[in-house]
Amino acid sequence: MTAFVGLLGYAKSRISLKTLFRNFYTTAKLNHGEYEWQDPKSPDEVVNITFVTKDGEKVPVKGKVGDNVLYLAHRYKIPMEGACEASLACTTCHIYVKSDHELTPPEEKEEDLLDMAPFLKENSRLGCQIILTKDLEGLELELPKATRNFYVDGHTPAPH
Ligand code: FES
Repeated sequence: MTAFVGLLGYAKSRISLKTLFRNFYTTAKLNHGEYEWQDPKSPDEVVNITFVTKDGEKVPVKGKVGDNVLYLAHRYKIPMEGACEASLACTTCHIYVKSDHELTPPEEKEEDLLDMAPFLKENSRLGCQIILTKDLEGLELELPKATRNFYVDGHTPAPH
């Protein structure tokens, strides 16, 4: 226990609590989508969202608290690429937040990447940085007309 408290103190001094929390909370992201393939265990976990494809088709998806939007999209065959597999090194998970939901503000690195995304808009975000919470019930996300992959040219990872 003492070691844990010491480790926590060290962690606090090195990184912000937000970062520490985020690293624990986004375990799903680190598992490359395994978590997103699990169905909600109870109705309390369910977060209904809608993807809007490039053609304007609305695809309702039943997500759950903790799901990473990128991997949830892969599960439901929404064509969101995710070339760097959520490591914040591409913009192929670019998406527009169409609903009025208030998301966690983007980190500086996400903003820097978005600056390079084609068809950037005010409501642009990187899908792999959106983790579902109950507050995001009804979230609507629209795919851009195109994305650019400067991470690995021509590489398209298959959904897990
Ligand atoms: Fe590369 Fe989201 S998948 S930044």
